[in-house]
Amino acid sequence: MAKPKVYSTHQLFEEARKILDANCEMQYWTDSERPPRAEVLRRAKDKEGLVCLLTERVNEEFLRSTPKLRIACNVAVGYDNIDVDACTKRGVVVTNTPGVLDETTADFAWTLLMAVARRVAEGEALARSGNWKGWNLDQLCGADVWGKTLGIVGFGRIGRSVARRASGFQMKVIYTDAVRVSEEVEKSLNAEFRDMNALLTEADFVSLHVPLLPETRGLFDAPKLFRMKPTAFLINTSRGPVIDEAALVAALENNKVAGAALDVFENEPFIHPGLKRPNVVLTPHIASASIETRTKMAVMAANNIVALFKGQRPPNILNPDIFKK
Ligand code: DGY
Repeated sequence: MAKPKVYSTHQLFEEARKILDANCEMQYWTDSERPPRAEVLRRAKDKEGLVCLLTERVNEEFLRSTPKLRIACNVAVGYDNIDVDACTKRGVVVTNTPGVLDETTADFAWTLLMAVARRVAEGEALARSGNWKGWNLDQLCGADVWGKTLGIVGFGRIGRSVARRASGFQMKVIYTDAVRVSEEVEKSLNAEFRDMNALLTEADFVSLHVPLLPETRGLFDAPKLFRMKPTAFLINTSRGPVIDEAALVAALENNKVAGAALDVFENEPFIHPGLKRPNVVLTPHIASASIETRTKMAVMAANNIVALFKGQRPPNILNPDIFKK
């Protein structure tokens, strides 16, 4: 029997390729640069399956040009690059990669938090510059992390993994979310619920862990940023558009927040020039980027594709209603 034709917009990792190659007629994008849109459309045209990254938009235009498509597997937990409703209407299954990146992403949120509080990037630059004149009492003094209050916005899997790490730093943990978690979860993580305004006025570190949805786009606007303590830091490892970057630049310029550490940006890969300041740590969307985790994500996507073509329900399906039709 002919194998299903699948296009992968990345060559993935060997473990994932083995699964795909054994079950599908694969075509991979192998360049290190991301493929241009026209190239993705051209190569996916006659395919029944797609493995894509968050840099590809699976929208009406894409679906119109891929009439045979049955499944789109995102190698990411966030799927704001995919119009799930449009896919559902056309009977295209959508999957993502939940769970496997929670701890790695939480590690990185902490990496950023520590880096911005303790001025790691500035220190590293000075150490490499050849201009370091030696130890000095007030040199690159940052802010303490231990004993402070950590405010977590979005208390799903990643937010909770971030909270779990706070106990070693003897921090108070407060969180906000659309839905308050059970008392049992709050107790196990030593976390207290606050509404957004209370969290903003109390937290020394505000770490964002919400998905990008219409209601979270621009969530961190001027009023919220200006409500933060002027000594507080903002950390974002979720999605860039959750923060209104122009408003953040204004808050930084007016000393309304002490600093920010950002792994994600409103219009990636563009970074607002106003963010390129010493008190802002910038990283290029790498919070889940450990070899172990990125391999697990790719394998998960491969298993989702293969499941569908074996007549099974893909384990990480986002539009299960398709199977009810
Ligand atoms: C995701 O999975 O949504 C991240 O942004 C990349 O790991």
